[in-house]
Amino acid sequence: MSESLGTLKRSHYLTEVGEAMAGQTVTVMGWVNKRRALGQIIFIALRDRTGLLQVKFNEQSEPELFKKAESVRGEYVLAIRGVVALRAEKDINPEMQTGKVEIEAQEIRILSDAEVPPFSVMDEGVANDLRLKHRYLDLRRPALQQSLFFRHKLAQEVRKFYTEEGFIEVETPILTKSTPEGARDYLVPSRVHPGEFYALPQSPQQFKQLLMISGFDRYFQIAKCFRDEDLRADRQPEFTQVDVEMSFVDVGDILAMAERLFTRIFKNLMNIDLPAPFERLTYKEAMERFGSDKPDTRFGMELVNISSIVESGGFAMFDAATAAGGSVRGICAAGGAGLPRKQIDALVELAKDNKAKGLAWISISEGGELKTSLSKFFSDDKLKEITGAFAAKPGDLILICADERTDTVLEALGALRLELSKKLELTKPNDYKLLFVTEFPLLEWNEEDQRFYAKHHPFTSPMDEDLDKLESDPGVCRAKAYDLVMNGFEMGGGSIRIHRKDVQERMFRALGFSNEQMARRFGYFIDAFKYGTPPHGGIAFGFDRIAMLLTHSESLRDVIAFPKVKDASCPMTNSPDVVEDAQLKELGIAVRQK
Ligand code: AMO
Repeated sequence: MSESLGTLKRSHYLTEVGEAMAGQTVTVMGWVNKRRALGQIIFIALRDRTGLLQVKFNEQSEPELFKKAESVRGEYVLAIRGVVALRAEKDINPEMQTGKVEIEAQEIRILSDAEVPPFSVMDEGVANDLRLKHRYLDLRRPALQQSLFFRHKLAQEVRKFYTEEGFIEVETPILTKSTPEGARDYLVPSRVHPGEFYALPQSPQQFKQLLMISGFDRYFQIAKCFRDEDLRADRQPEFTQVDVEMSFVDVGDILAMAERLFTRIFKNLMNIDLPAPFERLTYKEAMERFGSDKPDTRFGMELVNISSIVESGGFAMFDAATAAGGSVRGICAAGGAGLPRKQIDALVELAKDNKAKGLAWISISEGGELKTSLSKFFSDDKLKEITGAFAAKPGDLILICADERTDTVLEALGALRLELSKKLELTKPNDYKLLFVTEFPLLEWNEEDQRFYAKHHPFTSPMDEDLDKLESDPGVCRAKAYDLVMNGFEMGGGSIRIHRKDVQERMFRALGFSNEQMARRFGYFIDAFKYGTPPHGGIAFGFDRIAMLLTHSESLRDVIAFPKVKDASCPMTNSPDVVEDAQLKELGIAVRQK
């Protein structure tokens, strides 16, 4: 049974009702969070997007209302008119924002009844799949509602910032052409042009550059992007970027703008004063010191190179690495000696997962004795020299990696460093560290395809100092590319673009594209550059990631209203799904049997 609103109009959201309103008649609306019957009294805790409020029905004074309230179940939608009353001292609920008051009902309308939901909305322990299948119920949870309110405020703050700084928001197409951003495209078949496909944008990259050529000078957009890549907690196939482009600027201008945006967001939304300028690390420094191009620098545990101490020391793994031009490096975890043997074994496995051949360790007891997998190979003096290089103290654990490829050593230690920080609880949730990583490599060699790929994208400018090596030694060229990193997460990435046609063509050649391929894939883009192109550059921030970190959420799913799950599907709508044969036929598409 459900009733209409009739003439009832909501006078207040639930948590707007407070002590000062005692005696006042109010009309409130919401969902039944819980109904409790205590003899001749029924209490209904009503829930709306602001919180909870208790409504009281008394059988003696209002028998008709009481009867109606008896029929009410969880998640029914009600309209209640009643008088605000102060609760007796003993009935005050300090856990509830409105715990000092209640409403004595004078009218109740059941706007909608509800079947027994598949899970209780306020239950935090419900399995993810079930919650996502009924996301509309899951979204009734206060934590998720708060996340989405935060997301909304974040978007407002971003728009205010860019508007005040003279940027204009321009929408770019969703049905577009494949952009070479590195992930797989989502393709959309064309009905009008059978056999041809649009691609959903991995980012508005080319359009924003074209807007610079058109003279808009400062563009931003809160833009939906689509990438067909493996999902992780910080990666969704469909996500949102704060996408930005500026003309007549260099690296420093973009980084300063990013700093202003983030200090403002932190001040206005979190009341945190971020120290500026943010730290700047070159890619090389980030890798050498932290083993990551998105280092979490809230804790030390920096990498130490011990190649010169251990080389030719008789330990095959170390000797092979140094002889082949690789290196031996390690990290020292303060207090790590206390980790149980099983956890150290798990670290060895983690190193292997990261392609390291093996992991040696030295554990220093509180009494200063060494326990190590290296004792067979090195003298006590040598071991002392090694622990000395790490400035290790009693209670510390040293982990050492060796490989013929130094990059492998750095990456494995970077992963171990992060894992140890979790195990040893080295970071606090409200501790934020933002930094820029600059001077990324321009190109990345792909063994499989035997060719270079652009590390950022093919429109990224090489550093002026390295331009002359684009043909002779492309692998060493650095780019005017940068990332914004927060607490070990990549929050944004961008670059100064190539605005000179000759340099762009050299870049395409370094990537192994023929003139024909260039013309087919980027023809319109290269053409546009012929007609007066300002020097320009930009950046895109991961909007969902900012929301995730600032709401202390564990996954992007908690800040996206209707997210996808691990296999890129949506358990609620059951997409992707098969379509009618007629639809396929119209598109000129036949599906091959699996
Ligand atoms: P990039 O590929 O580095 O740069 O992306 C920018 C930022 O977007 C976020 N991000 C994601 N967030 C959630 N799920 C994903 N699958 C995902 N992929 C990326 C990250 C990342 O730092 N066009 C360039 C920008 C430019 O050069 O101006 C670009 O898209 O936080």
